[in-house]
Amino acid sequence: MITSSTELYCLIGNPISMSISPQVHNAAYEGMGMDAVYLAFRVDDGELEDAVEGLRIVARGFNVTIPHKTRMSLLVDDLTREAQISGAVNTVRNDRGKLVGHNTDSLAAVYLLDKLGVRGGAATIIGAGGASRSVIYALWMRGFTRLYIHNRNRRRAEVLASSVKAIYGFDAVGLPLDPATLAESIGRADVLINATPLGMYGGELQIPGDALRKDVAVMDLAYASGGTGLQRIAVKRELKMTSGLEFLVLQAAFAIEFWTGRRPPVTLMMEAAREALGVK
Ligand SMILES: NC(=O)c1ccc[n+]([C@@H]2O[C@H](COP(=O)([O-])OP(=O)(O)OC[C@H]3O[C@@H](n4cnc5c(N)ncnc54)[C@H](OP(=O)(O)O)[C@@H]3O)[C@@H](O)[C@H]2O)c1
Repeated sequence: MITSSTELYCLIGNPISMSISPQVHNAAYEGMGMDAVYLAFRVDDGELEDAVEGLRIVARGFNVTIPHKTRMSLLVDDLTREAQISGAVNTVRNDRGKLVGHNTDSLAAVYLLDKLGVRGGAATIIGAGGASRSVIYALWMRGFTRLYIHNRNRRRAEVLASSVKAIYGFDAVGLPLDPATLAESIGRADVLINATPLGMYGGELQIPGDALRKDVAVMDLAYASGGTGLQRIAVKRELKMTSGLEFLVLQAAFAIEFWTGRRPPVTLMMEAAREALGVK
C-alpha cells in the first residue's frame, strides 16, 4: 500500500508515454518487499533544471532518458566513473540532497557485449546521443579500437567521433545515416549497435538486406512488441543478437542495485517487461 512513508523513484524524459520502466521497477520493488513506487514524468528541455531541483527534495533516486542524458551530467553534484568518462547520466541517487550521477546503460552494454561474446575489433554504432556515449564506454572496456558512428545529423556523429578519439584513443569516424555508407561500415564491423529510437517509433532502420554478414553480432537498444525491424532481420539471418528489452531490464537492475545496494529479481523484471510490452 502507498503511504506517507513510501519512497519515490521515477523516470524523467520526453517522450515517456511508451516507457515500460514503471512496470519493470514496480515489479522489482514488490519482489524485494520495498515500500517504494516508481513513476514516469514527462520533462521537456526547458523544464529539466526545475524538475531536478524538485526531485532533489522528494525522490530517493531517478532515471533519465531521451533527450536529457548528456545534459544531466552537468546538473548533478558528483559522478561515478562510468558517468564521468562516458559523459552521460541515466541514473541519479539522492544521498540526502547530494545527487550522484551514474551510468547503468554502460554496465548493461558491457554485460551484453560479454553475452554476445564479442571483444576487441570494430563496431558500427547508429546514434550519437547519450545512449551511444554509454555504449562507447562499454566498447572501450571490452577492448574495441575502431568505431564507425552513423547519425541522422552527421555533424553530431563527427563531434562524438573526435571526442571519443580524445577521451579513449579510439580510431573513430563520424558518418551519415544512409543505407550505402551503413552497409560499407557494417561490412568491416564485429558488432552493430542501434542506439536510436528507430524500431520503437519514428520509423525503422534502413539496412540493405545483404549488409549483415553471418559473423556480425547485433545489439539493439530499441524494443517493440513484435521485435524491431533490425531484430527481425537478425533472427532471420541467425545472427547473435540482444534486444532492447534485455538492455532495459539490465540497466534497471543495475540502477536498483546502485540505489539500494541490493540485487533485484531480474527474471521477475523480465517477465514484467514482456507482459507490459505484450510479448508472448
Ligand atoms: N533499451 C534501453 O534500456 C535503452 C537504454 C538507453 C537508450 N535507449 C534508447 O536509445 C535511444 C537513444 O537514446 P539517447 O538517450 O541516446 O537519446 P538522445 O541523447 O536524445 O539521442 C537520440 C539519438 O537518436 C537519434 N534519432 C532520434 N530520432 C531519430 C530518427 N527518427 N531517425 C534517426 N535517428 C534518430 C538522434 O539523432 P540526431 O542527433 O540526428 O537527432 C540521436 O543520435 C532512445 O530511443 C532510447 O529509448 C534504450
